[in-house]
Amino acid sequence: MAWLITGGAGYIGAHVVQETLASGRDVIVLDDLSTGLKSRFPSDVPLIHTNVTNADAVFSAFEDYSIDGVLHLAARKQVGESVERPIYYWEENVIGFFNVLTAMQAHQVKNLVFSSSAAVYGEPDNALDTLIFEDDLCQPINPYGATKLAGETLSQALTKSDGFKVAALRYFNVAGAANPMLGDPFILNLIPIVLDAITNGRQPLVFGSDYPTSDGTCIRDYIHVQDLAQAHVAAMDLVEKSDSSFVPINIGTGKGSTVLEVIDVIQEVTGIEIKPEITPRRAGDPAALVADTSRAKVTLNWSSHYTLHDMISSAWEAWQIRPVQDN
Ligand code: WQD
Repeated sequence: MAWLITGGAGYIGAHVVQETLASGRDVIVLDDLSTGLKSRFPSDVPLIHTNVTNADAVFSAFEDYSIDGVLHLAARKQVGESVERPIYYWEENVIGFFNVLTAMQAHQVKNLVFSSSAAVYGEPDNALDTLIFEDDLCQPINPYGATKLAGETLSQALTKSDGFKVAALRYFNVAGAANPMLGDPFILNLIPIVLDAITNGRQPLVFGSDYPTSDGTCIRDYIHVQDLAQAHVAAMDLVEKSDSSFVPINIGTGKGSTVLEVIDVIQEVTGIEIKPEITPRRAGDPAALVADTSRAKVTLNWSSHYTLHDMISSAWEAWQIRPVQDN
């Protein structure tokens, strides 16, 4: 079985390529290398160097290779940037995905694992009291989340029209690295932001300490990128065996950590004393977002293994050998 992995040169994509190869499947990577690195995956893995908005190039991939399934990860994923550039986000994340689906339909390729996001949920009302379930209301509050929900809607329609088998994996907060060479190169999420601050003589900022949580700071569900990559292999197994279906699946640990708890673990792992500066809340931040993971357990026979300490230890190891990366 050969799987096309769009975005396979990225931080998450490279981990997914590694696990897909380890599962015995062949891989073809399609990536524009705008944020990815070819060095992140083995040189004998074919690379189609293009952007998913290039419809002809995407279509040609299915002419040139015998593809049995698609892992679609190629997307822009910065919430703040999506608010400033909605057209760009809809072009890259929706039109790009449209091109992939069009090529799949034309070549009768029906196995699809789609990289979705907890951002589809927006700010759930009851998130402080309960876990987030896949059947909960999806009301994204930014263009990034809206593009991910649009992708789910479009791919779901193809299960009815063309018999697609789709697993939409709703990532929660991804962190860590399988090995130091595969660390997250960008400083866009809490853990790399804190590591960047403390290794450059600054104190990190905590966006709000007046939330109704144990210590007043936001709660998130941090998932190790290695656990996430293994969930993709389980999802490939699922869609290969299943009949026409669309199934959204939360990929998280089911456990929440506050911002201050994360910072405490970073202090413990790095040995660097941290005295964060508390600032006002960041607009659009839900107080809590923690996954219910029972569907992943039942349908994928998958659950997370790594702890927050594992994530931060691996992120710290990768951080210390990272090349300087401009965001
Ligand atoms: C985590 C928590 C902040 C920075 C992300 C991305 C998106 C999506 C979901 C994939 C929040 C707090 C952060 C800082 C802070 N991923 N924070 N000080 O917003 O939960 O969502 O994951 O689809 O990639 O939007 O992640 O890392 O920005 O913030 O206090 O300097 O840390 O308020 O509570 P977020 P994040």
